[in-house]
Amino acid sequence: MRDIGMIGAGYVGLVTGTCFAEMGHRVFVMDNNEEKIRVLKSGGVPIYEPGLEGMIKRNVEAGRLFFTSSLQEVVDNCEVIFIAVGTPPRDNGEADLSAVERVSAGIAKMMKGYKLIVEKSTVPVQTGKWIKRTVSMFNRNNVPFDVASNPEFLREGSAISDFLKPDRVVIGVETERASKILREIYEPLGAPIVETDIESAEIIKHASNSFLAMKISFVNALSVICERAGADIKKVTEGMGYDPRIGKLFLEAGVGFGGFCFPKDLRAFIRIAEKLGYDFGLLREVERINEEQKMRFVAKVREALWNVGGKKIAVWGLSFKPNTDDMRFAPSIDIINALLKEGAEIHAYDPIAMDNARRVFGDTIVYGEDKYSVLEGAYALCLITEWDEFKDVDLDRVMELMETPIVIDGRNVFDPAVMKDKGFYYVGVGRR
Ligand code: UGA
Repeated sequence: MRDIGMIGAGYVGLVTGTCFAEMGHRVFVMDNNEEKIRVLKSGGVPIYEPGLEGMIKRNVEAGRLFFTSSLQEVVDNCEVIFIAVGTPPRDNGEADLSAVERVSAGIAKMMKGYKLIVEKSTVPVQTGKWIKRTVSMFNRNNVPFDVASNPEFLREGSAISDFLKPDRVVIGVETERASKILREIYEPLGAPIVETDIESAEIIKHASNSFLAMKISFVNALSVICERAGADIKKVTEGMGYDPRIGKLFLEAGVGFGGFCFPKDLRAFIRIAEKLGYDFGLLREVERINEEQKMRFVAKVREALWNVGGKKIAVWGLSFKPNTDDMRFAPSIDIINALLKEGAEIHAYDPIAMDNARRVFGDTIVYGEDKYSVLEGAYALCLITEWDEFKDVDLDRVMELMETPIVIDGRNVFDPAVMKDKGFYYVGVGRR
């Protein structure tokens, strides 16, 4: 078992660090946000992720998981240090790597014995080279070190099982020593380990997210064709998905993808390509289709209501996907803002994301207590996020509460035939 350092107690750092502790390692999670560390030390968890709170508690109690705001403490205790700090987008879409540089320099100045410095944050290709250069510059005593890339593929909402049962583990390394350490850490998970050079590992992350985003935009564009041709996207994707070359997953048409990863990584990858002298037009189109899909949803609301202004509209689901409280780049933001601009009165409900939504919308919308209360007197129900609790509803009650029975379903949660049978004016995505 090893002493592992995790720099950055954000989503990736906290989940990964805790899971390493669960595997039996002694883990030091460091963040320079002292308030965050204070919360973690007092047993609080700053993010919502199913199962995480219990796992943190268990490992802290077992003496395997520590929180600190001191980089020195991590460097003194750990031979392997993962960098999982934020790489937020700049205005031009490029990732801001200043935190990665700061941490690399800090480690270099403090290290006294061999360190394996592993980039875990999503970073542009060639960041590994920059880390190596930065560490070399500040490494005045010529302490031996290696740099590696180990991209993360966790999904919010299922991050713990994604970590413990990964489809693959990617390690980009330059030396036998680095390879041996990372293999030793990951082999117990029993997943295929893809060992590459550092640049390839870095590209695998952006390429994977961009490819998945492309799949979603493809299906969303296809949904337009289905709507116009009278076909059913659910059936079309079912028919396509049996082909293993296409696969069944990630073929759900909806209101567009959101979250802190796909939109950001897609833009970053377009910029990376540009900097390398290649216009990745395909990915620009993926982005465009995604923006358009949100506005197509708004157009459906407009078409159903005739006049939107002054009407009460109920919204179910605000987070960018179910099982998370994350509102970052959530499609609900653009959709609701567009409806507000047309004068709608929005009454929204989300099972978990209400607090974060308040920070986004302030008092421009009304926040409901539960899924039924927002429906009272509503002219339309807009379903934006497919939480399980919206799949299991009393449709007669919904009908009774609403002023006009209009349902715009952005996630194809309901069966169109059932809805029409019940007397709803129902619009899904890519189906009648
Ligand atoms: C995504 C990737 O799936 C992870 O592998 C990756 O590690 C992560 O980004 C990251 O880079 O950190 P995440 O953003 O948590 O994970 O969410 P996803 O489950 O991938 O969903 C992203 C968006 O796509 C959501 O808005 C979701 O509603 C949408 N989506 C997904 C669809 O519209 N249709 C689908 O068929 C699937």
